[in-house]
Amino acid sequence: MTSFVAARRVLAQAKPLRWKRCFSQLAEQKSDVVVGAPELPPFDWSPPPYTGPTSDEILAKRKQYLSPSLFHFYKTPLHVVEGKKQYLFDEKGKRYLDAFGGIATVCCGHCHPDVVAAIVDQTKRLQHSTVLYLNPAIADFAEALASKLPGDLKVVFFTNSGTEANELAMMIARLYTGCHDIISLRNAYHGNASGTMGATAQSIWKFNVVQIGVHHAVNPDPYRGVFESDGEKYAKDVEDIINFGTSGNVAAFISEAIQGVGGIIELAPGYLPAVYNTIKKAGGLCIADEVQAGFARTGSHFWGFEAHGVVPDIVTMAKGIGNGIPLGAVLTTPEIAEVLTRRSYFNTFGGNPVCTAAGLAVLRVLEKEKLQQNAFVVGSYLKERLTELKDKHELIGDVRGKGLMLGVELVTDRQLKTPAKAETLQVMDQMKEVGVLVEKGGYYGNVFRITPPLCFTKEDADFLVDAMDLSLSRM
Ligand SMILES: Cc1ncc(COP(=O)(O)O)c(C=O)c1O
Repeated sequence: MTSFVAARRVLAQAKPLRWKRCFSQLAEQKSDVVVGAPELPPFDWSPPPYTGPTSDEILAKRKQYLSPSLFHFYKTPLHVVEGKKQYLFDEKGKRYLDAFGGIATVCCGHCHPDVVAAIVDQTKRLQHSTVLYLNPAIADFAEALASKLPGDLKVVFFTNSGTEANELAMMIARLYTGCHDIISLRNAYHGNASGTMGATAQSIWKFNVVQIGVHHAVNPDPYRGVFESDGEKYAKDVEDIINFGTSGNVAAFISEAIQGVGGIIELAPGYLPAVYNTIKKAGGLCIADEVQAGFARTGSHFWGFEAHGVVPDIVTMAKGIGNGIPLGAVLTTPEIAEVLTRRSYFNTFGGNPVCTAAGLAVLRVLEKEKLQQNAFVVGSYLKERLTELKDKHELIGDVRGKGLMLGVELVTDRQLKTPAKAETLQVMDQMKEVGVLVEKGGYYGNVFRITPPLCFTKEDADFLVDAMDLSLSRM
């Protein structure tokens, strides 16, 4: 949409008394224009003028009433007021391409009408019931979700978050095997409650509290790892941990198929099959954390682990499962699930009718709109274009990932792989000014994480790459 059409639309939607404010909004929008910037792909919708509190008012309240541990992106924090498909709008009506997706969470697109309708419809009829009464929403979604998993992974436990899902998965593994030791990967992120913080392996996310029973294996990271892309060599470390750090038996191995928070690290080929073998021999269960890589994001498969040719014993999920609704799940086999009958296991909100109705709508949208195929096609195109950008900008050390879960790592020295932390922040800020939102991650905070809604288009991909190109050129 040209700025002229946008201007007319804002004015058409404004009530007479708000005209003055609209004119000033348009003036502000104009002053944001970055010289030489690429144009956002056209979009035939804009939100009504925003009339709520200002950014300063919100910031002041956050400071006074919310946790001092809260932080925000960007020098000038972004104030988003509406979202549609792959776009977000700030309080001035400026449109942004959202390549962040609320941390790989908004998979169908912001406020997808089918998902919204399912939420509204269920909320009007019954908002909460607990699993102590019968309700079709939880049963229908469990059936649909189980149909997406291979083998015997047919029993679902619903939770409210990824942390909760992984906590539960780890407990189930410990109960089933009678062992306590769990192996996770260095650089992993699995949550921030007592057990999952133990499995998380980046000091930035670990508080100095007791975290026991988890060993952290060498990360099979093809870019920074000692064995480069030799998955089997990395897998030997898991064998060593079992032989030299445990009784010889373990409860579980937990890992993502592509590390998200860790900076979009694809596990070296051959690693997962070798480790799954070793873990099974040691009597343990294999847990696939699909919180970020699941729900069609990686394009080639619906679940990240499928690309590695393995079948886990337990799969955990959250984020994309509800397109932003608080929802998580653990799927396992009937035999393993049985362990939770030893005591009473209960979760007040887990399987809430509104959340599960949303989950079912998400699955249907993914299928109806062929979003997995789109993630594959657009993701492959975007990765190709980002890789071309690497030839142009020395600052780009690596481009990686699959589908619409991509990473761009910035380094000041390609040989030494020196993390370009400050430059990453600067480029990220400049991209925001141009109208593109990406996230940063990785242990050194020098990796752009590109995890947009799966309805991202090739034109969006071009715009993102052009915005990154422009921002890098200014460094
Ligand atoms: C792979 C992975 N597992 C688990 C979690 C924890 O999920 P939540 O923040 O919903 O508790 C995250 C969060 O980013 C994650 O990326």
